[in-house]
Amino acid sequence: MAVIPGDGIGPEVIACALEAVQAAGRECGFRVDLTDYDLGSRRYLATGEVLPDSVAAELAEHDAILLGAVGTPEVPPGILERGLLLRLRFEFDMYVNFRPVKLYPGVSSAIAGLTPERCDMEVIRENTEGLYSGSGGFLHKGTEAEIANQHSVNTRTGTERIVRYAFHRAMKRDRRLTLCHKTNVLTIAGDLWQRTTDEVAAEYPQVEVDYVHVDAACIHLIDSPERFDVIVTDNMFGDIITDLGGAIAGGIGLAASGNLNPTGDYPSLFEPVHGTAPDIVGTGWANPVAAVFSAALCLEHLGEGEAAAMVEKAAAGVLSGMGAMAGPGMGASTSEIGNRIVEAIGV
Ligand code: IPM
Ligand code: MN
Repeated sequence: MAVIPGDGIGPEVIACALEAVQAAGRECGFRVDLTDYDLGSRRYLATGEVLPDSVAAELAEHDAILLGAVGTPEVPPGILERGLLLRLRFEFDMYVNFRPVKLYPGVSSAIAGLTPERCDMEVIRENTEGLYSGSGGFLHKGTEAEIANQHSVNTRTGTERIVRYAFHRAMKRDRRLTLCHKTNVLTIAGDLWQRTTDEVAAEYPQVEVDYVHVDAACIHLIDSPERFDVIVTDNMFGDIITDLGGAIAGGIGLAASGNLNPTGDYPSLFEPVHGTAPDIVGTGWANPVAAVFSAALCLEHLGEGEAAAMVEKAAAGVLSGMGAMAGPGMGASTSEIGNRIVEAIGV
């Protein structure tokens, strides 16, 4: 496993995630060999390097990548996001961004009174195309006639593979799939997504298929999250609704994600959805559970389902005894929470 602890609270939460991984490995009879990579703001500010080609080539040789968070206020926006995160997603063809939205028992949601039975879904976000593609450009930049075009790229192949992946997930769950888009306005991209979903749906008569506009999805996620089992959506909409999902499932301190290359041609990358939180670095107020859950997704992806379940269960158990899900209200520091999780593994 390649490890990119990154910046800010990244190294703090990744340390806990790695201890949980090795503890589960001891229970299940394996050990994970780790290679540490110094990437992120520190390296960029010191050397100007974001992701040297030689490092990308080394990363490609690993089975998986675990990343904490990258970015600091000193680095202008876009440099690390496009140069590191998006470059890895695109070059390693991690076309699925897998984001569970699950409320664990004892965790309080931003929605008063929401219970775990009503909030258990997966968002399957397209991860290589759409508005993230980088297609577009400026014309007459800096003049009154300036034009800024940023294209949403939607290929038939790219759309079909993510829709197929979502159906495959739905078959493993409650067999309900919702396409989330904006077909009433994005009549070109939306048409491709809707037609592709309809065509693939014909192969899965067992799956109940639904459609929701992205704006309406924001209402339903708040007032009736139980209506969702698997949501498939494009890159930009998926980015937005999974932050909302994070808030309803107990906050961004718990939200995990996997950038998956389902073909196995390249490693997949696992990371907490949260950022580097420069304001709380070193305070012990960072919740390591998002990183621990991300490591569990990683173990699952590597075929270590038993270890993954142990880590998830241990972290969920520790959560149920906590107060707030981040900050001083957690009642324990980052490393104390990490230790409690390790103690709970295999019990
Ligand atoms: C996320 C993040 C990234 C994204 C950024 C940091 C490039 O917000 O993983 O959701 O927009 O995909
Ligand atoms: Mn995001």
